Amino acid sequence: MKLPRYILGTSVLALMATVGAADAAKLTLYCSAQEDWCQLMARSFEEATGIDVNMTRKSSGETFAQIKAEAANPKGDVWWGGTGDPHLQAAEEGLTEPYISPMRDQLHDWAIRQAESAGNRTIGIYSGALGYGYNSELLAANNLPVPSCWKDLLKPVYKGHIQMANPNSSGTAYTTLATIVQLFGEDQGFEFMKKLHANINQYTKSGSAPIKAAARGETTIGIVFQHDAVKQAIKGFPIKVVSPCEGTGFEIGSMSIIKGARHMDEAKAFYDWALTPEAQGLALQVNAFQVPSNVNSPTSDKAPDLATIKLIDYDFKKYGSSAERKRLLKKWDDEVSVLPQ
Ligand code: F6P
Repeated sequence: MKLPRYILGTSVLALMATVGAADAAKLTLYCSAQEDWCQLMARSFEEATGIDVNMTRKSSGETFAQIKAEAANPKGDVWWGGTGDPHLQAAEEGLTEPYISPMRDQLHDWAIRQAESAGNRTIGIYSGALGYGYNSELLAANNLPVPSCWKDLLKPVYKGHIQMANPNSSGTAYTTLATIVQLFGEDQGFEFMKKLHANINQYTKSGSAPIKAAARGETTIGIVFQHDAVKQAIKGFPIKVVSPCEGTGFEIGSMSIIKGARHMDEAKAFYDWALTPEAQGLALQVNAFQVPSNVNSPTSDKAPDLATIKLIDYDFKKYGSSAERKRLLKKWDDEVSVLPQ
């Protein structure tokens, strides 16, 4: 699909003028959203600009770790997608580059606040609420009660029926940990995580894997972002989406330019393009139902409506800080993951 020139940001057009036909410009994209969306973004940007994109999909925590490990010799140019907390941590640790896009005026306040809180080293590209989904056929086959709250997940009847990702690798799972701590307080929150651990059948690397497994009938419940559960339901799997009764956390999915990017002009061109309504609208082609950050982006009526979900006042400054994210992950490793199941 070739995007019309009028939708391309000014930096893209300027860059296209300098890109020679022979030596194609390049961009190395680290992507932490769903694989199909990452592929579509990469291919669509290539078609729109002629810039070759080398894309790798890894979960949010994994990508953060990779960018940190490569800091002395950066290999990536742009990190697109993934939960905002590790993008904020990367900003604080000076791993990403400040940039103010000409597209910024078109964004929702929450996306701009994300940028401002990080010295413009990151920006919000989408938002979505955490929750969980369950396979209604498996639930019935196992005579299990229908869960509706976070605390329901601690009931012994669900032992071996719940899957979530590992919060070290996955932004979804880190958001879960931070949400539970904010909802119940740190002591009670860790007690919750320990009891939940007793019911977990597997910690996956990627955040959306548990609901894909529930769709395939490999687990009954998956703790994921609600939009990832809706995606499986739309595909026709017997997945029901739960917005927990106590309230829930949410993400500001983010994008950052990697400090020392080898292809800085291309990185800025991608950044501007990715904030256009047309680029954000590509999400609908792959049933990605996050709330886009550009106010003019098309949305789907199948997307979870954040206005009707009981959201906590998630403290992104605290839980996206380097010290707090490191501390919580270490505490989870030391006190929760080591417990027998
Ligand atoms: O694209 C799906 C999604 O759930 C995003 O909303 C989120 O930012 C990302 O995946 C998190 O992935 P992970 O938990 O694997 O880091």
